[in-house]
Amino acid sequence: MTLHIRLDGQTDLTGQIYRQVRRAILDGRLRPGDRLPPSRELARTLSVSRLTVTIAYERLAGEGFVRTAAGSGTFVSSAMAGQKRDEAPAIQAADAISPRPIWDTVVLPTAFDRPAIYDFRTGLPDGALFPHRSWRRLVGRELRAAETSAMIYGQPGGASLLRSAIARHVAVSRGIDASEDRILITSGTQQALDIVARVVLTPGDTIAVEDPGYEPPRHLFRSLGLQVAGVPVDHEGIVVDRLPNDARAVYVTPSHQYPLGVVMSMRRRRALLQWAERRDALIIEDDYDSEFRFVGRPLEPLQTIDAAGRVIYVGSFSKTLSPSIRLGFLFAPASLLPALRKAKYVSDWYAPELLQNVLGNFIAGGGFARHIRKAGAVYRSRRRLIEAAIRRDFREHLDVVPSETGLHLTATAKHLSAAELELVAGRARERGVAVHRLVSFAVTEAPRAGLVLGFGAIRTDQIEPGLKILHECFR
Ligand SMILES: Cc1ncc(COP(=O)(O)O)c(C=O)c1O
Repeated sequence: MTLHIRLDGQTDLTGQIYRQVRRAILDGRLRPGDRLPPSRELARTLSVSRLTVTIAYERLAGEGFVRTAAGSGTFVSSAMAGQKRDEAPAIQAADAISPRPIWDTVVLPTAFDRPAIYDFRTGLPDGALFPHRSWRRLVGRELRAAETSAMIYGQPGGASLLRSAIARHVAVSRGIDASEDRILITSGTQQALDIVARVVLTPGDTIAVEDPGYEPPRHLFRSLGLQVAGVPVDHEGIVVDRLPNDARAVYVTPSHQYPLGVVMSMRRRRALLQWAERRDALIIEDDYDSEFRFVGRPLEPLQTIDAAGRVIYVGSFSKTLSPSIRLGFLFAPASLLPALRKAKYVSDWYAPELLQNVLGNFIAGGGFARHIRKAGAVYRSRRRLIEAAIRRDFREHLDVVPSETGLHLTATAKHLSAAELELVAGRARERGVAVHRLVSFAVTEAPRAGLVLGFGAIRTDQIEPGLKILHECFR
């Protein structure tokens, strides 16, 4: 391992090396059994004589910090390691630079750190349904191809293979007439929103979001200096009449509103498009959860009924495949593409090429469509179980919000207040049942009381026992 030692001036070089290695052992940076760099090598790195290093090592050995094994090197001994964490650090950690106050308002999603026994949280597809075998084969193929190709940086817009596969996929599944040149590959929806906001909006601009709604984009927009305006959602989707006059953009989830689950009606879609045209505004359409459709015919995406070029369509593979792939895409008017590619370039240049090619081949080879059908059938049966149980066993307390797609169901409280439901959810959590509360998605509207039940992560046979416990927690 490379050991960082900083020598100051030309005096007491042995002492400086001794003290810094000693400190690294005491504060645990060097652990028992770690091998110190050979004296010859360290001497060369520090431009000192080998004797300078040898004497420092001998002193450390004499005090029991290290032991020397003839022929194999000098090792940290277990007795002293990590014993004195309170020793003053070499350089005082400075508090001189603080983050902007906006970061105090962002809470990292720690909820995902602790696994639940009955996991009804949203946003988590089932790992057991992931197409592991096909994926392994395709990754192997990419790695083999990489053995003979140059290691070069990728294109900010994304790999052509993946862009054309997505273009064909959305053309078939969503009726979107996408050319691959207008698709940009991103690290999930979140980065798509980041790039769009940077390219189109100016700090101080207002962006409207659904209330209740998906939280991470709100933090993102605020961190970019935008004003975020929550707009209520009813059974037809975002209430267009309540959009602020000065909004330059609106972020919506029309296929499966997150978290309520309602589908935006065609009437509302048209009203939203008219509003955008009138106000010279942009619509960001997050086609969240559209792939897993259980009842009815899908409504046209906003993007396909937009005649004025005001919609940017965003998709993600986090729910359909896995959040760990961290790939998504956006489809934008041609006029924006050059700037969007530049924004991707200055952000993180491009998404990992290997994964892009694996995903591109997976989609192009028909694996993705097969996976959606297979996983969709499992999710459909889970959803049916949950919906039936809520209508039957929880009818005294909860109303199911009608919805047609996706990986979660929302139920609003009939009589209980948000605070009372909070207690129910807390009692359930203690008994290993994880559910989201509707209030946690509120922006500014008076929060509605309700529960949001995901069925991506929970095994089918765990649903009934989990709901039984949840039901007991209402008493
Ligand atoms: C409304 C909504 N859109 C998109 C996503 C996916 O985001 P990403 O692609 O950044 O993982 C989520 C994940 O929970 C979501 O709730």
